[in-house]
Amino acid sequence: MSDSVTIIDNRTGKQIECPVLTGKYGAPVIDTSRLYKELGVFTLDPGFGTTASCKSAITYLDGDEGILLHRGYPIEQLAEKSTYTELCYLLLNGELPDQNQMADFEHDLKMHSMTHEHLSRFYNGYRYDAHPMSIMSGVFAAIASYYHDATDIRNPEHRLMTAKRVIGKIPNVAAKCYRHASGLPFVYPDNSRDYVENFMYMMFSWPSEEYKPSPVALRALDLLFILHADHEQNASTSTVRLAASAEANPFACVAAGICTLWGKAHGGANEAVINMLTEIERPENIPKYIARAKDKDDPFRLMGFGHRVYKNYDPRARIIQQAVYDLMDEMNLNQPMFEIAMELEKIALNDEYFIERKLYPNVDFYSGLIYQALRIPTEMFTVMFAMARSAGWIAQWMELMEDPDFRIGRPRQLYTGQEKRDYVQIKDR
Ligand code: ACO
Repeated sequence: MSDSVTIIDNRTGKQIECPVLTGKYGAPVIDTSRLYKELGVFTLDPGFGTTASCKSAITYLDGDEGILLHRGYPIEQLAEKSTYTELCYLLLNGELPDQNQMADFEHDLKMHSMTHEHLSRFYNGYRYDAHPMSIMSGVFAAIASYYHDATDIRNPEHRLMTAKRVIGKIPNVAAKCYRHASGLPFVYPDNSRDYVENFMYMMFSWPSEEYKPSPVALRALDLLFILHADHEQNASTSTVRLAASAEANPFACVAAGICTLWGKAHGGANEAVINMLTEIERPENIPKYIARAKDKDDPFRLMGFGHRVYKNYDPRARIIQQAVYDLMDEMNLNQPMFEIAMELEKIALNDEYFIERKLYPNVDFYSGLIYQALRIPTEMFTVMFAMARSAGWIAQWMELMEDPDFRIGRPRQLYTGQEKRDYVQIKDR
C-alpha cells in the first residue's frame, strides 16, 4: 500500500494521487499542493482545523493526549528543571546549551536589554489609559525602524542577532507600557539581575529606593514564562509566519503577533478571566454564569475554558494550577477570587455540557491568578503573555527563513459575492 491518498473529482472522473507525509509524531499530512494544478480546485478549511500550514521541528503538541514538547523535551520537565532563558536558547538553537553557551546567551540578552533613547518618547503619544497591548504593538513596530536596512534576514548571523534583540528588549518595552500608564518614571535595565528579575525591577522599582523582589514571585513568573514560550502554529504565531513570509521586518512581524495575541479568544483570555471572576463576585453567582455559558442565545462564554487543540486537558494548565496553590501557600495569600475560580472549575468539570464538548480549563484560566498575586495589573496580563511568547514567535520566524520551501503565504478563497456586473453612474442608481 503506497503512502498516498487518491482524490477523485466525481464531476470529471479526473483523479490525483497526493503523497501522505509522516512527521515524527502526530497525524500524517496529505500534501495537496498539486491539487489546483491538476484538478483546478482548492481546499476549504475555515479556522484551519485540519490544515498544516508548515513543517516545523520546534514544538509538538497532542491535544488528545495532553502532550506538549519543545524540541522533544516535555513541558513538565522543562517547567520543573529549566529556566525561561534556557528554554529560549533551546527554541532558537534546537539543543540545550552547555554552561558556556548558556552564559554567553544570557550575556547577549543583557547586551540587548536597552532600547534607543528616542523610543522612550514614543510612549508619550499614547493616552495615559491606552491599553498596554496597543502601546506594545506600536512600540515594537517602531523598533523595526531602527533595524530596517541594517538587518539582512537572509543572513543566519543577523537572524540570531535579531532573535536576541527581540527577547532582550521586550521586557524593557513591556515595563514601560505599565510605567507610562501609571505616570511612573521609566527605569533602565539593571544587567546585574537575571532576565525575569530585571523585568520586575523595571516594572516595580522606584528610582529612590532599593528593589528586591521575592524569590517566590520570581520563580512563579519564570514558570509562567516557560509555559507561554511557544505553542506550535496558534493564531499569533501563524500571523508572525504569514507576515514573515512577505519578508516583513522581523520586529514588524512580532508587532503583528502582539496584535493577534490581544484578542480575547487567544491571549486576551487571561485578562478576560479575571474580569469574569470579578463580575461573578461570589460563589453563589456561579450557577447563573454557567447557565449563561450554556445558553446558545447568549454570547457569553466561560473565559479560560476550551481550546482548539487540547480536548483532554491542557498540560500547561495542570502545571500552573499546582503553582497557584503553591504560591498562595508560600506567599500566604488568601484571594477570594481564587476560591471563586476553584469553585467554578469544579462545577464546570462536572457539568454535562462541558464534559460532552471536552471543555477544560486552559492555561489562561490560572495565569491571571498568579499575575494578580504578583501585583501585575489586569490590563498587563496579555503583555506578560506576549513577552514570553516572543521567544516562540522569533524561533518560528527563524525557522521559516531557513525553510527551503519558503514562499510567500497566500491562502485562496471560495468567492460567494456578486456576479460580474456593470458600473452604474451615481445619478442613474
Ligand atoms: N464556554 C462555553 N461554551 C464553549 C466554550 C466556553 N469557553 N468554548 C467552546 N464552547 C462550546 C461552543 O459553544 C461549541 O458548542 P456547540 O458545539 O454546541 O456549538 C463547542 O463548545 C465548540 O466550540 P468552538 O467555538 O467550535 O471551539 P473552537 O475550537 O473553535 O474554540 C476557543 C476554541 C476559542 C478557545 C473557545 O473554546 C473559547 O472561546 N474559549 C474561551 C476563550 C479562551 O479561554 N481562550 C483562550 C484559548 S487558550 C490560548 O489562547 C492561550
